[in-house]
Amino acid sequence: MDLFEKIKQVTEEINSEVIQNSESLEKFRIKYIGTKGLIKDLMGEMKNIPNERKREFGQVLNEVKNLAEEKWMGLKEKFDQTESSIDKGIDYTAPGYPSSIGTKHPVSIVRDRMIQIFEKIGFSVFEGPEIEDDWHNFTALNTPQDHPSRDMQDTFFITEDKNTVLRTHTSSAQIRAMETQKPPIRIITPGRVFRNETISARAHCSFHQVEGLYIDENVSFADLKQTVYYFAKEMFGSENVRFRPSFFPFTEPSAEMDISCFICDQKGCAVCKGSGWVEIGGCGMVDPNVLKNCNIDSEKYTGFAFGMGVERITMLKYQINDLRLFWENDTRFLKQFVTEG
Ligand code: DAH
Repeated sequence: MDLFEKIKQVTEEINSEVIQNSESLEKFRIKYIGTKGLIKDLMGEMKNIPNERKREFGQVLNEVKNLAEEKWMGLKEKFDQTESSIDKGIDYTAPGYPSSIGTKHPVSIVRDRMIQIFEKIGFSVFEGPEIEDDWHNFTALNTPQDHPSRDMQDTFFITEDKNTVLRTHTSSAQIRAMETQKPPIRIITPGRVFRNETISARAHCSFHQVEGLYIDENVSFADLKQTVYYFAKEMFGSENVRFRPSFFPFTEPSAEMDISCFICDQKGCAVCKGSGWVEIGGCGMVDPNVLKNCNIDSEKYTGFAFGMGVERITMLKYQINDLRLFWENDTRFLKQFVTEG
């Protein structure tokens, strides 16, 4: 047969081959493009082609070779994808590896519980920004520029003019609430706060607070105390709270709230520094100057405010004695906490 005819015939054969699996594809490869395949044979015939037709022969031969190779490559890719798992002996009926769904962080559990407790008595959640200006974090809270109490909280300034800060407390959100709402105001502000403090078992440069604010006519310190007792009872099942006179620029009078140390049962431990009591936050009656700064009539309205540390309360609740554990993301620690409530 004429060799050109032969190439034509091989081309037709390649085109009409129906290949359904990698086994028949391998046969196809051996038959056409293998080292002993038809195309190699035809290449060997080149010497028998008259010189003036060699070029033409080379061309058609190349075409049929490309055709065979392309067909082979396309099908190989297809079969590799669909058959590889079977080839590798994967058992689709085998049970999967369990993947853990994770747990809520203990600080989130306690924050959510605090929200729940305060919502029950009519407080609603109000949120403020973590990046604050001087007005909301300090000045409106009755803490003017040169006031020594600014040093009570080591501030992270984020602009050189010191006007923009990472909020040092959630009290800044009180101002935002009073600027945008009319009394009666009854809000809590859960959120993250920042202080330039050395990290230790008892202190961290970032932690969480829940701020509370209640402004209405005739609000008294007795209302504040009852609210805190109610909270302690709901959170710890005990009202063992004491109020110590203290100072905050934005409240008058001011107090610090301590709860009896459950970790050592008031015997004295590292968390309560041997005193049997742990501070959970500050509180007081909103200073009339603060009301004035927010355009609230301080003759007509009074109010109380408090700020509690969520990590502190979490440590007590779960008897955790090192604040740093909250930040390590060690799953052996985190998975011990279950959501309640
Ligand atoms: N902002 C205070 C702090 O971070 C806590 C605080 C004290 C908040 C008294 C209050 C308050 O609302 O009335 O130390």
